[in-house]
Amino acid sequence: QNPTELHRDVLAWYDEHARDLPWRRPDTSAWGVLVSEVMLQQTPVSRVEPAWHRWMAAWPAPTDLAAAPAAEVLRAWDRLGYPRRALRLRECAQAIVAHHGGRVPGTEAELLALPGIGSYTAAAVAAFAYGRRVVVLDTNVRRVLGRLFDGHALPAPSLTQAERQRAAARLPAHTPDSVRWNVGLMELGALVCTARAPRCEACPLRGYCAWRRAGRPADPHAGLRR
Ligand code: ADE
Repeated sequence: QNPTELHRDVLAWYDEHARDLPWRRPDTSAWGVLVSEVMLQQTPVSRVEPAWHRWMAAWPAPTDLAAAPAAEVLRAWDRLGYPRRALRLRECAQAIVAHHGGRVPGTEAELLALPGIGSYTAAAVAAFAYGRRVVVLDTNVRRVLGRLFDGHALPAPSLTQAERQRAAARLPAHTPDSVRWNVGLMELGALVCTARAPRCEACPLRGYCAWRRAGRPADPHAGLRR
């Protein structure tokens, strides 16, 4: 199929079905986006939302968190799990203050150099906070693309270079579209193309999907996964 058609279908679906999450609003700061991405790494949206609001009220900018006592930071992290992440986020705020004048940097390379920021988070902040045209690949996006183009039930345990290149080749040419494409695929993976119970009948890509066309075969590596 025509890539433009595929892009159009994902963007239209996103505009109609996306959840209204606070960190997706246009007035959210880059810091707010960064905090949300760190929290969302291992915690579901429903638990992140209230914690994110409390966190942003307490420490609305990196300078605020950088100066906060560790005990208070850990208390605010509360039940999000993996409390080390809270301290890493404070180290990240301190590095933003020390090296970037308190302002979250905007390129993937600068973001990646911050403590606690890996390649997914760097790409997500560059795309969602700064509107850059970059490839954002989380598990949801990898699963959607793997089903759509390769007919695989689930992506490989770790990201391959080939997968990254292919995702880059599919990125819409225009920047605002590329940002919505990334978050649209993520949302599709979270709401429709889920790991365990995909709702293909509700999917805007059902007409193009290699996995669906093949009869939704099971994951051949299922026995090797944890
Ligand atoms: N919107 C932007 N990034 C997100 C994420 N990691 N999870 C859910 N929604 C998001």
